[in-house]
Amino acid sequence: MKKTENQMLIIFGASGDLTARKLVPALFSLFKDNHLPENFVVLGVSRSNLSDSDFRKKVVQESEYLKKKTKDLDSKIIDRFCEKLFYEDLGKDYDTSYKGLQKRITDLNVEHGTDQNCIFYLSTPPSLYEAIAKNLAEVGLNDQNTGWKRIIVEKPFGYSLESARQLNDGLHQYFKESQIYRIDHYLGKETVQNLLVTRFANSIFEPLWNRNYIHHVEITNAESGGVELRGGYYDKSGALRDMFQNHLLQIVSLVVMEPPIGSNADEIRNEKVKALKSLRIMKDEKTLHDNTIKAQYISSIINGEKVKGYREEEGVDPDSSTETYAAIKFYVDNWRWADVPFYVRTAKRMPTKVTEVVIHFKTPHHQIFKDSGLNNKDNKLIIRIQPDEGILIKFGVKVPGQGFKVERANLDFYYSSLVENNVMEAYERLLLDAMQGDATLYARADEVEAAWEFVDPILDYWKNGKGVKTYGYSAGVWGPTNADELIEGLGMWRNPSENLADDPGFCVIC
Ligand code: BG6
Repeated sequence: MKKTENQMLIIFGASGDLTARKLVPALFSLFKDNHLPENFVVLGVSRSNLSDSDFRKKVVQESEYLKKKTKDLDSKIIDRFCEKLFYEDLGKDYDTSYKGLQKRITDLNVEHGTDQNCIFYLSTPPSLYEAIAKNLAEVGLNDQNTGWKRIIVEKPFGYSLESARQLNDGLHQYFKESQIYRIDHYLGKETVQNLLVTRFANSIFEPLWNRNYIHHVEITNAESGGVELRGGYYDKSGALRDMFQNHLLQIVSLVVMEPPIGSNADEIRNEKVKALKSLRIMKDEKTLHDNTIKAQYISSIINGEKVKGYREEEGVDPDSSTETYAAIKFYVDNWRWADVPFYVRTAKRMPTKVTEVVIHFKTPHHQIFKDSGLNNKDNKLIIRIQPDEGILIKFGVKVPGQGFKVERANLDFYYSSLVENNVMEAYERLLLDAMQGDATLYARADEVEAAWEFVDPILDYWKNGKGVKTYGYSAGVWGPTNADELIEGLGMWRNPSENLADDPGFCVIC
């Protein structure tokens, strides 16, 4: 196990939702499982007027997000965790002098022996990132001569290629790239990391992982929920910016990349950048029209209950054309993937919450069992990111009896079978990695920009293109019916159910 050095975690935006919902619960689990260093302090920073004890109450003692984790625990454990938490009020503005903050950090460092190592976690709107970095630098809090300094930034990282570049340039004025950790919580998921292991720790998949054997690749990210309380943010973002540019292109890069020469952060990230740069950028309106679909959920009744349409959600413009569904077909211009179509879709208000990668292999090039019913039953490798995490291979077996009828059978693996392992949640894993200085699962500047380079023309076309349509789909169905046209000639999307092994079309009726 790697050593975690003594350090202080300073969270900007500490009175916000993410701190209570994700960061503090992740820190609590790390604490409980003895992953935190001996000397460790969390300093929450924001514009709310809170004392240390108010902050502890808010994010630990009275937090609904920690209830489950702390339910049967001795209160002494919770108290010991609380003693590590402190709060500093920045006043009215994040863009202010950080002299007071610097003093607090110095004092806490002396009291708790955190060796002047600091991680600054920016859980604020991205518009504040550069100002915070500048103000930290002004009081020397980017200086690594006295302890290391790292900065973690949350998504969205930019709103477009141009704004992502500006953000990178802005941060690079004050922090070196090696100090910057861009978080993408999908990379913290075990099953996403396992894509690397499936591909590069086995000799049976990689020889087939190319255009000679793969017919097409399908990636689905579906959520059953709507935009919930985030309508204001989401309406300016949409599915392409919210999920596709980051989480889904990260998954794509792991499917597409070449074998890295080793497993260190830059070796892996170099290959991911190369993969993203090989996505064929769609330039002309016809290509964009033929290969992209945007849609929005409309009100419907699910399980007897009326569900709001997107335009009726709080914070959403009643005339909004923001997409809650995005499906994109594209190609990868390199030796391995030439002519293999990729189909990637993401959406809210689908029938179930599921994320999976499906590798569809080609049917055998010479059919021996001509009347076997084999057609359209290609071999599939299904990598389930969530839920019912696992891997499923669909392959042909002989139906017992006369002749050679072929049926598809399943070969499956479930993460739940690894019962002894306590699987870390995404934020736990990512925070611990940053604390140990491992940036493998964080996005690098060029990676983020390469992803925007692919996404920008689609966004631009959807905003300014002629005759671009936003289709409607009833909340609770698999998107607009014309989305199947994108998979022309291949039938339809594999509309998965909650359970990995259930075939599409499976449903529970009571
Ligand atoms: C976030 C998006 O990054 O990921 C949300 O902003 C989305 O809109 C969420 O709901 C999905 O994450 P997960 O881990 O639940 O699939």
